[in-house]
Amino acid sequence: MDLTGRVAIVTGASSGIGAATAKLFAAQGALLTIVGRNEARLLAVADVCEQANGNKPVCALVDLTVENSCEEVVRKTVETYNKLDILINCAGKAMLTSLFDNSMIVFDELVALNLRVPYQMTQLCLPHLKKTKGHIVNVFASPMRMRPGFLPYVMIRDAMERFTRSAVLELAPEGVRMNAVRPGITRTNLLSNLNVDDDMMDHAYAAISKILPNSAILEPDEVAKTILFTVSDICPNLNGSNIQIDGAATVS
Ligand SMILES: NC(=O)c1ccc[n+]([C@@H]2O[C@H](COP(=O)([O-])OP(=O)(O)OC[C@H]3O[C@@H](n4cnc5c(N)ncnc54)[C@H](OP(=O)(O)O)[C@@H]3O)[C@@H](O)[C@H]2O)c1
Repeated sequence: MDLTGRVAIVTGASSGIGAATAKLFAAQGALLTIVGRNEARLLAVADVCEQANGNKPVCALVDLTVENSCEEVVRKTVETYNKLDILINCAGKAMLTSLFDNSMIVFDELVALNLRVPYQMTQLCLPHLKKTKGHIVNVFASPMRMRPGFLPYVMIRDAMERFTRSAVLELAPEGVRMNAVRPGITRTNLLSNLNVDDDMMDHAYAAISKILPNSAILEPDEVAKTILFTVSDICPNLNGSNIQIDGAATVS
């Protein structure tokens, strides 16, 4: 699945699934803009990408929820490469809250990052993606049954499903494709950002894997391969789809 000369923006590329995707895309020859906030981790990913194909990615060290940062990412990309072929909306986080918490902080933070940012990145990238008949992939959770505490996360996940299916009505006539890749539980920094201590991580994954049909915690590389397949030209009519890669976690 050759991506030589294709220009891709990968958000959330400093960690987990986004980092694995950036490295895999670089190995296939893509020219990249990688986006994250953690400088050391983003630069480490950039080094691997450069070693893979000789091209140093544009590193956008930004908080995407801050005014004008999405604009900056797209502007830098087009200034550098003069075009854009692929947008991977992968930046995201999980946060716990309850309807009984008398605060909107978690809800607003999750909407800002997990819903508003992919919508705005899509808007900003569209003029460029129209020219290249490009592709957008949204990364968000498969429709697993969630535990109490994840209500806003699940509401936003379902909104992203609707976004992916409905945006295609506007995008398809322009030759732009949009699909979703929806992983199950994947070994990334998502849990540590939920304040699970490092020494409890293996215990947490072991407990989770016990309730999964094939007992598998996914590795980010496998999700990245699914994203690569999705943007490849192998199936040109793959459009508006929600592709689950979750080890059968959602069968019933
Ligand atoms: N891991 C799972 O089990 C799982 C399952 C289903 C879906 N997902 C989804 O997959 C996506 C990727 O998550 P992951 O598991 O790879 O998690 P991760 O390892 O925690 O990576 C999250 C990425 O998002 C970036 N990010 C977070 N807040 C940001 C902000 N305000 N501005 C810019 N970048 C920001 C992080 O950058 P910094 O660290 O540099 O801030 C990091 O690169 C998320 O949307 C997540 O909901 C994950």
